[in-house]
Amino acid sequence: MGLTERLADRIRRGGPITFAEFQDAALYDPEAGFFTTGGGAGRVGGDFVTSPEVGALFGTLVARYLDDAWDRLGEPDPFVVVEAGAGRGRLASDVLRALPACTPALRYVMVERSAVLRSEQRELLTVEPAEEALGPVLLGSDPQEDDEWVPGTGPIVASIDELPGIGFEGVVVANELLDNLPVRIVERADGAWSEVRVGLVGDDLVEVLIDADPGLAAEADVVAADAPLESGVRLPVPTLLADWLAEVAGVLRRGEVLLVDYADNGAGLGARGQDQWLRTYRHHERGGDPLDAPGSQDITCDVPLEYLGSIATRAGFVVTHESTQGAWLTDLGVEALVEEGRAVWRERAHLGDLAAIAGRSRVGEAATLLDPDGLGAHRVITLERTVR
Ligand SMILES: C[S@@+](CC[C@H](N)C(=O)[O-])C[C@H]1O[C@@H](n2cnc3c(N)ncnc32)[C@H](O)[C@@H]1O
Repeated sequence: MGLTERLADRIRRGGPITFAEFQDAALYDPEAGFFTTGGGAGRVGGDFVTSPEVGALFGTLVARYLDDAWDRLGEPDPFVVVEAGAGRGRLASDVLRALPACTPALRYVMVERSAVLRSEQRELLTVEPAEEALGPVLLGSDPQEDDEWVPGTGPIVASIDELPGIGFEGVVVANELLDNLPVRIVERADGAWSEVRVGLVGDDLVEVLIDADPGLAAEADVVAADAPLESGVRLPVPTLLADWLAEVAGVLRRGEVLLVDYADNGAGLGARGQDQWLRTYRHHERGGDPLDAPGSQDITCDVPLEYLGSIATRAGFVVTHESTQGAWLTDLGVEALVEEGRAVWRERAHLGDLAAIAGRSRVGEAATLLDPDGLGAHRVITLERTVR
């Protein structure tokens, strides 16, 4: 039975489902979900392009950020970097290739929900069993004499399907993960919130409005952040993002969280409308209505900024940085790297070797990563978790 039929059966039995339940099935159903069946980021053969997929430059700059964070933490060894929503492993591979100073201490743990994408990571990286990367870390912060912990033996790369279950010290990185965490949707009507659920007419999936429960209405107020809202305005409420951040807070004993994603404030989301903040993609083109053919297209949503700040505080984090991706990469020294690339190209263009081509490629990559109407407009937010 196809996913649409299974969802229809579920709705016939239990009534309309939340949009988050629908989105979770559409993206991650074990048999037919968009990501489960191998959809995802990629310039060739993918469905959308993310910063790591533009080229190696983004990973080189993230490696610099990781070195800065390692330094701020006092150069711990092991230094655990958990990349959540790691996709095919492109960012991990570029970070490692940049050889950051933290490399000998580095345990790089990719967390990816899709088994197909986890297996594709092995085409780019040598992946070791999770115990190799996390073993001594799992034992706690004070390695005992009989632990097999040997400093300076990194990098070790591992790949798992959910966040590590036990505390660690380091950094959690998430590039374009948050926009794929399922959202509930609310609509403003007569000064109150309704919830947009997914119901059925005949065999067709359709939107159904019901009164929002008080908990959801309270979260919707946080998303709206005092923006003046007319009747009919809709907003996303990313309740699963709140759960994910609380889970991160539960395992990151000390360290930082780096979040990169498209985001907007409550007023912007309200003014732009649902068809702008909730988008579908398939093979590099905008897809159809989100309820169409679940599993066949990506469904992605802008991250509400005030809401993110609020749930971060609730989870015990302090927001330490917020800027556009363009500004963040500029602070990390992207211009100097581009200049370096240009110089290599000038010197080696006549040879046309890999170094020359990589040098020239940096110029174009930087333009794409900094584009104020594209990836450069993504928001970069860092959170800090201090010792509990
Ligand atoms: C938009 S893709 C981004 C991939 C990669 N970070 C990049 O920038 O190219 C989002 C990825 O997050 C994964 N994902 C979604 N929810 C997840 C979760 N709770 N834990 C781990 N991975 C998740 C999806 O399967 C998908 O591969």
